[in-house]
Amino acid sequence: MRMYDIIEKKKKGLELSTEEIKDTILGYTRGEIPDYQMSALLMAIYFKGMSDRERYDLTMAMRDSGDILDLSSINGVKIDKHSTGGVGDKVTLVLAPIIAAIGVPVAKMSGRGLGHTGGTIDKLEAFPGFNVVISESQFINQVNDIGIAVTGQSANLAPADKKLYALRDLTATVDEISLITSSIMSKKLAAGTDAIVLDVTVGHGAFMKNKEDALRLANSMVTIGKMANKKISAVLTNMNEPLGYAVGNNLEVIEAINALKGKGPDDLMQVVYALGSQMIKFSGIEEDEDKAVELMKETISSGKAFDKFKEFIKAQNGDVSYASDISKFSRASIIKEVVAKTDGYVADINAQSIGLASMILGGGREELDDIIDMSVGVIMNKKVGMKVSAGDILAYVHANDMKKADNAVEMIENAYQFSSSCIEEWPMILEIVR
Ligand code: URA
Repeated sequence: MRMYDIIEKKKKGLELSTEEIKDTILGYTRGEIPDYQMSALLMAIYFKGMSDRERYDLTMAMRDSGDILDLSSINGVKIDKHSTGGVGDKVTLVLAPIIAAIGVPVAKMSGRGLGHTGGTIDKLEAFPGFNVVISESQFINQVNDIGIAVTGQSANLAPADKKLYALRDLTATVDEISLITSSIMSKKLAAGTDAIVLDVTVGHGAFMKNKEDALRLANSMVTIGKMANKKISAVLTNMNEPLGYAVGNNLEVIEAINALKGKGPDDLMQVVYALGSQMIKFSGIEEDEDKAVELMKETISSGKAFDKFKEFIKAQNGDVSYASDISKFSRASIIKEVVAKTDGYVADINAQSIGLASMILGGGREELDDIIDMSVGVIMNKKVGMKVSAGDILAYVHANDMKKADNAVEMIENAYQFSSSCIEEWPMILEIVR
């Protein structure tokens, strides 16, 4: 079938066949289908959507466009965790060592941050020497030896997604559920684990701004995962304000280390426990989700989670002395206070603005090859629901440039909204799609 006819068919809202989807993805990845025709098809999908069967076929065609990791030589049920992204999201740094210490093998591929959201791989580079790209054999051996390995994404994992995502970004077709589902799930399925736990963030700081859309995405990804015979669940988590108190690479790593030592902020730990209990359930170690949470808490209080974290950093050549002595992490030269101008209760903090403030300080990337300043960022002092008096400190800006610090202070001031009475906060865990 000609590409013209495939576009015409989708434009009319008809279902594309498995072969049509496969040929389109293959042809586009090989450069045989031009961007202008693929753009037209993306826009037709944007308006007409796709059935579950089409989404599954699209996901599999994208998965098959590159390498598929074979993790069969790792013992036990391999489980991946993926977040749709957030501000102050250091969940993987805390969660992965906890569940690895419990005996769940963690074989994780992580990404770098872009825009207002950070990436786990960037944060791990806070440890001097940490090796973020390890060979497939080291990855597998390390998981078998110590139960945990995290690596940056291989260049050849779902290359169709890389090409398609860049085109979606330029053609205003990113925010469509079928396309997001196939983009995320093709990479997750190529990563070769037996089970997948998804953290679908919801709110200002997230990709999905409201619960309805997040639920549609979660249901779609869980459906496709099950069609691919994976154990899968999705946890909808609140990203209406930054997670925890720290935003920015070194600052977040320090918060994660404190969390592994039992001093984690409540909102962060709620997300860690919700995702972790799903992972532990899939592993078969503990079916009861409440008991799985207890197991995680014991692993932290016994020191085993922090020990596993240090073992993991050391195995990938990171300077583990930083974990034991957090004063070694570089600190910004300027710390500016963001001061409340009115009395009231914090009603809302636009997490995206806080993420952008951290980015303009140098803590994030506008372009993929921007270099990150690990020391800068924001420490929140007042979170949603807290009472504030004029003159109180809302947040601290950590900067290395006075002009950028002033800009960040203004952005953070504008990110806060106040009310005269205490507002009802969203719960941290909005729903679990199983
Ligand atoms: N994250 C992805 O990897 N793909 C999307 O399409 C959206 C978010």
